[in-house]
Amino acid sequence: MRFSYVNTTQIFFGQGQISSIQSSISPSDKVLVIYGSGSIKKNGVYDQVVNSLKDHHWVEFSGVEANPTKETLDKAVDIVKQQNIDFILAVGGGSVIDGSKYVAAAAKYQGDGWDILTGDYQISDATPLGAVLTLPATGSESNAGAVITKAATQDKLSFGSPHVQPKFAVMDPDVMKTLPEKQLINGIVDAWVHVCEQYLTTSHGAMVQDGYAETLLRTLKTLGESFEQRDSDGWRENLMWTANQALNGLIGTGVPQDWATHMIGHELTALWGVDHARSLAIVQPSLLRNQLEHKRSKLEQMGVNVFGLTKSDDLAERTINAIENFYQTMQVSTQLTEHGDNKQKAIDAVVSQLEHHGLKALGENKTITLEASRQILTSAIA
Ligand code: NZQ
Ligand code: ZN
Repeated sequence: MRFSYVNTTQIFFGQGQISSIQSSISPSDKVLVIYGSGSIKKNGVYDQVVNSLKDHHWVEFSGVEANPTKETLDKAVDIVKQQNIDFILAVGGGSVIDGSKYVAAAAKYQGDGWDILTGDYQISDATPLGAVLTLPATGSESNAGAVITKAATQDKLSFGSPHVQPKFAVMDPDVMKTLPEKQLINGIVDAWVHVCEQYLTTSHGAMVQDGYAETLLRTLKTLGESFEQRDSDGWRENLMWTANQALNGLIGTGVPQDWATHMIGHELTALWGVDHARSLAIVQPSLLRNQLEHKRSKLEQMGVNVFGLTKSDDLAERTINAIENFYQTMQVSTQLTEHGDNKQKAIDAVVSQLEHHGLKALGENKTITLEASRQILTSAIA
C-alpha cells in the first residue's frame, strides 16, 4: 500500500440539514442552483433550498436530464460565464451533481466543454460547488468524478478532477421519501457494484479496505432483503450513508480497481437509455464469469464473508450466482432486452463504441480485451 488520501467534502447528514446551506456559502457569493426535471418542487426540497438562500443573491437552471447531456449543460455554462456566478449548488441525484461538476469546470474554459471528456483540456480551475443529494446511489456528492453524455454522438464518458469535488454535501434521508421504488433499487445496485469494482479484484491482503468493503456489501444485502422497511428512517439513513461510503474514495485507496462493468455499462446507457444501475446488473454477472480465473480468490472470500456460503471447489461460481440472484430478487434484470431483436447488431454496436473510446484493455489486469468484451456481451444481451 502506498497512497495519498483526502476527502475534502464536508458532509451535513441527517434530517433538517438542508438549512446548513445558509452558513456554508459565503453571503457575498452569487449562486446558481442547478436541478433536474422538477422532482424537488414536489417534495419540498426546492422550498427548503429557497428558504436557506433567502440572504443570498441566486438564480436557477433546471432541466438537467438523467444521464446529463453536454447539450443541456452548455446552457448553464453560459449562465455561469455571463452572470458572473461564484458558487454552484447542485440539487438532485448523480445526474444533476455530475452535470454541475461539468458546468463548474467548463465555465472556466474558453473552448468546448466536451474537451474535458476527451482529455483535450485538463481542468485547472472550476467554480466552487456544493450538493444537496436527493437520490443515494452514485457517491457523486463527495467524490471528484462525473459522467456526461454527448447526445449527438451517443458518447457517455467520465472525467475526474479535485477541482470539482463538492465543498459540502447535504444528505437528508427525508428527501428519499418521494423516490420511486425503482430508483431506490437502482441506488442499492449502483452502490453494490461500486464496492465490487474496488473489492472483487485480486487478493492483496489490505485488510481494512477488504473488511470495510465487506461491511458495505453486507449492509446493502440487508437493505435489499428488508426492502419492505424502505419507509423507515433507519432504512433510508443506512442506504444514504452506505451509497456515499461506497464511492467516496476510501475503500479504493491503495488497492487494485476494476471498473470494467461501469465502462461497458455506460455504452448500454448511451445506446439504449438503460438506467445506469440496471446496465451494471446486466454486465456484471457475465463479466465475473468471463474473468473467473483472475477473480476466483476474491469471489471465494466474498462468498464466505458476504453471503455466508460454505467452502467448496465451486465457491466462486456459487458467489456469482448469489450476486445474480440478489439482483433478480429485486426484480432487476441481468440481461439486456432494450436493444430490439438483432442481438448480433447490438453486440457489434457496443464493441465498436468501446473501441472508439479506447476501452480495449479493461479491468484490474487489463485482461478485458475487445474480444473478451464481445464474449461478455454475448451472454449479457438476450
Ligand atoms: O430530474 P429529477 O427531477 O431530479 O428526477 C430524478 C430522475 O428522474 C429522480 N429523482 C432524484 N431524486 C428524487 C427523484 N425523484 C423523486 N424524488 C427524489 N428525491 O430520479 C431520476 C434519476 O436521477 P439520476 O440523478 O439520473 O440518478 P442517479 O443518482 O442514479 O445518477 C445516475 C447518473 O450518475 C452517473 C451515471 O452514469 C448516471 O449518469 N454516475 C456517476 C458517478 C460519479 N459521479 O461518481 C458514478 C456512477 O457510477 C455513475 O456512473
Ligand atoms: Zn455506478
